[in-house]
This record gives sequence, C-alpha cells and structure tokens, in this order.
Amino acid sequence: MTASATSIGGFPLLHPVICGSGEPVMTEAGIRAALKAGAAGVIAKSVNENPAGGRQLDKADYMRLDADGAPTAGQGVSLFNRSGLSQRSTEDWFKAVAAIDRDARSEGRFVAASIVYASAEGAVSIASAARHAGLRVFELNVGAPHASEAAAGAIVQETDPDRLADLVRRVRAVTEGMQLWVKLTGLSSNLPALALAARRGGADAVGMMGRFMALVPDLETFKPVLGTSAAYGGGWALPIVCRYLALTRRAAGRELPLIGTNGVRSGGDVIRMALAGASAVEVVSVIMHEGFAGLTRVVTEMDSFLAERRLIFSDLIGQTADSLATYAEQPETPGRWRDFVPPETLAESV
Ligand SMILES: Cc1cc2nc3c(=O)[nH]c(=O)nc-3n(C[C@H](O)[C@H](O)[C@H](O)COP(=O)(O)O)c2cc1C
Repeated sequence: MTASATSIGGFPLLHPVICGSGEPVMTEAGIRAALKAGAAGVIAKSVNENPAGGRQLDKADYMRLDADGAPTAGQGVSLFNRSGLSQRSTEDWFKAVAAIDRDARSEGRFVAASIVYASAEGAVSIASAARHAGLRVFELNVGAPHASEAAAGAIVQETDPDRLADLVRRVRAVTEGMQLWVKLTGLSSNLPALALAARRGGADAVGMMGRFMALVPDLETFKPVLGTSAAYGGGWALPIVCRYLALTRRAAGRELPLIGTNGVRSGGDVIRMALAGASAVEVVSVIMHEGFAGLTRVVTEMDSFLAERRLIFSDLIGQTADSLATYAEQPETPGRWRDFVPPETLAESV
C-alpha cells in the first residue's frame, strides 16, 4: 500500500488520478497510453444509444484559450469545445474496452465504460451491455454540458432529484456486481440534492461537476469563437467544484464517495479536490493541452507533495470540507473593507 492509495467505496485505486472520458481515450491506443502514462484508471470515451450523439462528433470543434481568454495556437490554459460521442458500435467498443480492463486489472488499474445519457431505456440497455462485456465499472453521465445545444434528445441533462433517483435505480438493477458511478452536471446549483438522489437510486459514487457552457466573443472577428456556445473548462473552475464537493459531503456524509472533476491541472489541484471531499479525480483537459505526459506530471507532483510532507492521501479526504464555516460564525472585523479600496475612497470629504 503506497501513500497515494485510495478507494472509491469498496473499489481500491493505486492513487486518485483517473483519466476522465473524452477524446484522448476514444481509441484503444489512447486508453493504453493513458494507463502507460500512469492513470489509476480510465473512463473510456462515452457512447449513447442515439445515433445523433455520434453524429454530433462530426460537428465537434475545439479551441485552446490563453490566460487572457483569447484563442491561441499554443498550449493554452482553458479548453473551449463542443464535443460528440463515440461512433463505434457499443458492442464492439465495450468488447475492446473490457479486453484492456482485463489487462489493467492485473496491475491494479481499471478501464470503465461510460454513457452520456439520452434516455432511461438507452441507459439501461447500454449498462446491460457493459455488464455483459465483463466490465467492472460503469459511469453514467447525466449532465454533459452540450445537452442544450446538441440535436434534440441526443444528450439529456437530469437536474430533477426524483427523476434522477428513478433513473439510477433502473440502471442499478442491471449493473449488479459492478461499480456504478454517476457524474453530475455543472449547470445546476442543486448538486447536493442530486448526489443524495443518485445515492438513493443505488450509486456507489458520485462525480462532480460537469463543465460550464460559455460564449467567447472573438476580439478579432467579433464573432463567437467556434460559432456557437460550447463547454468551457479551466483551472479557474476548481474552487467552484471544491465548494460543491464540500457541500455534498456535508449533505451526504463521508460514506458517499465523491469523484472530483473539472479544473485539475496539477498535483496540488488533486490534493485540493481531496481536501474538499473527493476520494479521486478525473482529468481530461490537461491531456488535451500537454498530451499524456500531462497526466504523468500531475501524478508525479501529487506523489511529491505527499512524500515531502510524509502524508497519506486518504487522511486528507474532506479535511478542508469539515472545517468549512458559515459567514455568521466569523469574528467581526469592523473597517476591514478599508484595506481593499483605493485611497481616494477614504479621503476626507471637502
Ligand atoms: C473534449 C472533451 C470531451 C469530453 N467528452 C466526455 C464524454 O464523452 N463523456 C464524459 O462523461 N465526459 C466527457 N468530458 C468531460 C471530462 O471527462 C471531464 O469531466 C471534464 O473535462 C472536466 O475535467 P478537466 O478540467 O480535467 O477537463 C469531455 C471533456 C472534454 C474536454
């Protein structure tokens, strides 16, 4: 057992850095590269049953943005994109993913199947196919950001707790013996209630939160970058995710394992998500910016952080969340605002 070992409920992980679902792991070669780069596990690129979801991939486009929010041909710090789903047949894809999972298992790693939800019937039939293929982990994404812009019905976002509990219950019924992880949207402030609903439905863990939808005006053309609204992520998102992790931990207790995603760019960010309550994290953008070496960098940085301070990763989970106070609990600091305004504001009136 190493200092970075963790687990998602009863499912042990070598360490907390999972390669999340996305284009880098749309192929067998990509999945193997993520494992080779050191990922504790991989969530293979998502499918769904609606052909419109796969067709959307042909209209996908991507732009890296620099620190000023401008499109850049360089590495960039934020990713702005509209995505689509895998165009492989589900049966064929899950068979390939399961074969890699069998190899990964001998090293203590895993490869999971994933669906971006379009309908309850589709989710049930795809979850059954994942189990039939022999996969150990199924991730049900009910909150992909593209739902509002993709063809009607291609991607559905579930933000109603009762409907979500019902959906998860139906998927749980066909995934007996598998890990069922539910990934929630970033476009709702109702995340603690949604997490509780997923748990009620039988989820083993809850992931949060999906990226946000955004519009980026281009200062050269005055047109929208990529021509549409699209999903937007960056390191800036991490503190927002951390707050929802902490609120969810408070609502659901430490027994519900949380997986953090959206904004991890460094080993320090993995630790931050853990302190906010995450047992593990899913990273994708770092790989889109830096290649799979970015994943290795994140794992190495996290290991160094733990080694330098002689810390055990699992001891850190939720520490910051558990000391989160309310405004009302703060001591009074009269006049503190004066330290944060220009001197003119404090000049004597004439
Ligand atoms: C290009 C791209 C494609 C993605 N495709 C999927 C997907 O098919 N299924 C899914 O559940 N999440 C998908 N995601 C979301 C990622 O798995 C991840 O949760 C999100 O990007 C936030 O993490 P990050 O800041 O490390 O990128 C995608 C993200 C990106 C950038």
